[in-house]
Amino acid sequence: MAENSKQTFYITTPIYYVNDIPHIGHAYTTIIADAIARYKKLQGFDVFFLTGTDEHGQKIEKSAAARGITPIELADQVVGRFKDLWEALDIDYDYFIRTTQPQHGTEVQSLFAKLKDKGDIYKGTYEGYYCVSDENFLSEDVPLETKGYKICPDCGKKANKVSEETYFFKLSAYQQALMDLYANNPTFVRPQSRMNEIVSFVKRGLKDLSITRTTVKWGIPVLDDPEHTVYVWFDALHNYLTGIGYKRDPGLYERYWPADVHLIGKDILRFHAVFWPAFLMAGGFALPKTVFGHGWWLKDKTKMSKSKGNVLDPHTILDSFGTDPLRYFLLREIPVGLDGNFSHEGFIHRVNSDLANDLGNLTQRLLTMIQNYFSGRFTDIEEEKETDIKLRTEFERAKEKIIAFYDDLAINRALEEIWAYISTVNRYLADNEPWILAKDETQKPRLARILYQAAAALRTIAYCLYPVIPTSSQKIWSLLDEKQALPERCFADLEFSGFDPNRILQKPKPLFPRVNLKDFLAEEPKSQPVKKEKEKIMDQVSFDEFKRMDLRVAEILEAERVEGTEKLIKMRVDIGDEVRQMVAGIATTYSPKDLVGKKLIVIVNLKPAVIRGIESQAMLLAAVLPDDSALIPFFQEDIPAGSKVR
Ligand code: MSP
Repeated sequence: MAENSKQTFYITTPIYYVNDIPHIGHAYTTIIADAIARYKKLQGFDVFFLTGTDEHGQKIEKSAAARGITPIELADQVVGRFKDLWEALDIDYDYFIRTTQPQHGTEVQSLFAKLKDKGDIYKGTYEGYYCVSDENFLSEDVPLETKGYKICPDCGKKANKVSEETYFFKLSAYQQALMDLYANNPTFVRPQSRMNEIVSFVKRGLKDLSITRTTVKWGIPVLDDPEHTVYVWFDALHNYLTGIGYKRDPGLYERYWPADVHLIGKDILRFHAVFWPAFLMAGGFALPKTVFGHGWWLKDKTKMSKSKGNVLDPHTILDSFGTDPLRYFLLREIPVGLDGNFSHEGFIHRVNSDLANDLGNLTQRLLTMIQNYFSGRFTDIEEEKETDIKLRTEFERAKEKIIAFYDDLAINRALEEIWAYISTVNRYLADNEPWILAKDETQKPRLARILYQAAAALRTIAYCLYPVIPTSSQKIWSLLDEKQALPERCFADLEFSGFDPNRILQKPKPLFPRVNLKDFLAEEPKSQPVKKEKEKIMDQVSFDEFKRMDLRVAEILEAERVEGTEKLIKMRVDIGDEVRQMVAGIATTYSPKDLVGKKLIVIVNLKPAVIRGIESQAMLLAAVLPDDSALIPFFQEDIPAGSKVR
């Protein structure tokens, strides 16, 4: 089909705040979107997949100030971490939008001006309580604490009073239109339980929404009134238009807008299912088709957050297992709409049993037999018997169900269905005992049929798994001597009997690396909430005692993560007359490439320590934050390495 005659599909992830480095929760949203985008490509759609970062607002302003850097410096650092993670997770997005892009800013300014001219935005005074962590104005019925602040009902953090001149958006005027939207489009919000939440929220009545701040400098200034910066959610939601080229590339915008799915976490549903369609209606835009609110990944039954000290760094798992097992686990373990509790034991169990045992062993055993008995090429294949026909027709039945589940975004159910078929194939081999037939030369055509049939089934399995585990699927596909790259083949054309028997099948290679469970579990982060006692001032030391510590300026020459660990970075540092190796637990705050070239203070006469088998011959100085992460004071000046620090 010609590209421009294909049906289009536009999917988005939320754009991520840059106050923090990405964790499993962020990875989850993006992996679901990637799997859906890949599936739609297999279905022959012309797909556009947008992701990016939300870089303005008070939260980022405060985080940058706490680190002593500017907001844009913070954003630049963290954007790199997001992009690196998406690469490591095989995320095949089409465009990465940053809200600090000048183009986005100009377009938001003009969309704002348009609504103002139309009378949907007016000036007034806002008085109320604002949660910086959620960048959200609290509703009036949240009770006031005795100390004069409110507690945000969504995140539990303190919300202080703000009282300032502001521009309001006439949200109240859109209440009926929103109710009509929900009534006429029952799948506008999914899953259904979330639609019910939204309907009852809007039914209770909508107040006009404050959409500018005068006390926040880090934002897009309002045209003709630059004392006001645009509220970060008004700014951020419009990424879905600017990211698809609204003014930047009108052809692109016309081709893909409106979005088919805005995939988001359940915590930001109200912004997407109430504010966003109201802004769009006011601007005269077509509305997105579905806002899908997925559940959360919890750790020890609570939402992951940096302040609780229970966030999971995806790199720990990626370093030990690679990409596909993590993608598989997150998509298989829970239905997209529900919460799930992450445990390393659960992860290892699922990956070992489904990927290594069921799928990995099937591939390994089958291709080994085809090598051993046929040198990779079938000769004479016997006609299909009833049991062989059953394996084939069973696939046709499974295929329909798999497609229906994927279409419904029920990825875990599609995977259940695929695994049921993997069991059927394993049972087929067990029942037909090819290893016994192989002992009898006269049975060779029967043996060929059984192995051919199982290989044809494996090929269809690899195909169906492509959205979820693209790298492993492609590997199996290639071992089966398929020349075409996977997404180029359309699902509708996937036939069991499309497996040409004249091909040369490859020797198997291990697909899912064996994992040393003990080592991996030893790495499980201590996830109890970190409640630190205030550190007391220590006992006095004499100046002579202090002088015995040799503190020096060191320059970091090289830095790399210590594989399979959560926090450790190994560095080579120049301390003047020599270069030393140093290991430090700073990976939750810094990425190795940000460290190279930086100058800092290290102690050079402390007894070397061995950390995870690596000798550390110096120790750096850093501030320890309440969540146990480290912030290093770097020198801005160009001081020679080796200079004494006293
Ligand atoms: N910047 C806003 C979104 C603006 S979209 C116009 C934001 N950013 S966020 O970085 O805080 O969160 C982004 C997404 O990550 C949200 O959908 C959120 O639900 C998701 N997750 C964050 N932690 C999560 C888990 N622990 N589990 C699953 N997803 C979670 O909100």
